[in-house]
Amino acid sequence: MEIDAILAQKKAIFEDFLSKYLKENNNGSGIFDACAYSLTAGGKRIRPILTMLGCEMVGSKGENSLHAGLAIEMLHTFSLIHDDLPAIDNDDLRRGLPTCHKRFGDASAILAGDGLIFLAISVISSSPYPLDVKNDIIEEIARTCGINGLILGEYQDIITEGKEISLEDVKGMHRLKTSRLFELCMYAGAKIGGGNKSQIDALVSYGTHLGLAFQAIDDILDITSNEVNLGKASKKDDTKGKATVVKVLGLNGALQWAKSATSRAISALSEIPGDKETTHILKDLALSMLERVR
Ligand code: IPE
Ligand code: IPE
Ligand code: MG
Ligand code: MG
Ligand code: MG
Repeated sequence: MEIDAILAQKKAIFEDFLSKYLKENNNGSGIFDACAYSLTAGGKRIRPILTMLGCEMVGSKGENSLHAGLAIEMLHTFSLIHDDLPAIDNDDLRRGLPTCHKRFGDASAILAGDGLIFLAISVISSSPYPLDVKNDIIEEIARTCGINGLILGEYQDIITEGKEISLEDVKGMHRLKTSRLFELCMYAGAKIGGGNKSQIDALVSYGTHLGLAFQAIDDILDITSNEVNLGKASKKDDTKGKATVVKVLGLNGALQWAKSATSRAISALSEIPGDKETTHILKDLALSMLERVR
């Protein structure tokens, strides 16, 4: 099967799981509506797909990791809602729709983001995973998303606006704001699937480099694409003086950078014996992310 068809199939499995979850957990409140609005606005669902593939890589069924994939998609959605707020990136469009704060107001959007963090924790704690797996995933969520992870990366993104920044600093920031969630996907999927330490380490390393490539392509698309294709504003990073790979290396340099991060992601996979078919899928997925248009 072609990579696009595989991604579409896994995305459909996730969408199904998400809509069942939303039906069963609707508390009838406006804040639930705001959370559900952003969750269902139509993301690529790369993170839950990666979580499933992490699980399959160590020989288990991808579907077993859906609770973790949902929790991670909730954390990702929280990060997008807050990233779009007027005090951060001040964006009006996300996933092809008005941003959460444009639709529900700033206060509700802040609370919806907060709410999604706790929903993510409760999806893991009420999942059918063994207690030690739940504990490990929750600990990893705190490590990858907290003030030494995604939040620190978002903070660095803001305080470096308009400043000169080195490639090393941009890389460090991208590892935090983007790679950490990709690492979490690979970790959780492999952990749920019963992977051993060397398998988990190699998959996490795949996540690190895939995340770096992914954010570099995001920085490139901000310049080369448009609102209709992206479903979010374009040509904003330069205006805001954002520290991007493109700012440091130029467009062509950023693409080379993304390609080399992709190669490193792919070579991390060769360090472990994993499911052969899934190894190919993860490789094709990484390559296809270089060509993505949204
Ligand atoms: C956007 O992530 C934020 C970045 C880390 C660049 P995605 O490009 O995965 O956004 P969705 O989930 O498809 O909307
Ligand atoms: C966002 O980076 C990464 C997050 C952790 C939310 P960007 O600010 O570049 O993401 P977009 O372009 O708004 O999706
Ligand atoms: Mg941002
Ligand atoms: Mg942004
Ligand atoms: Mg961006």
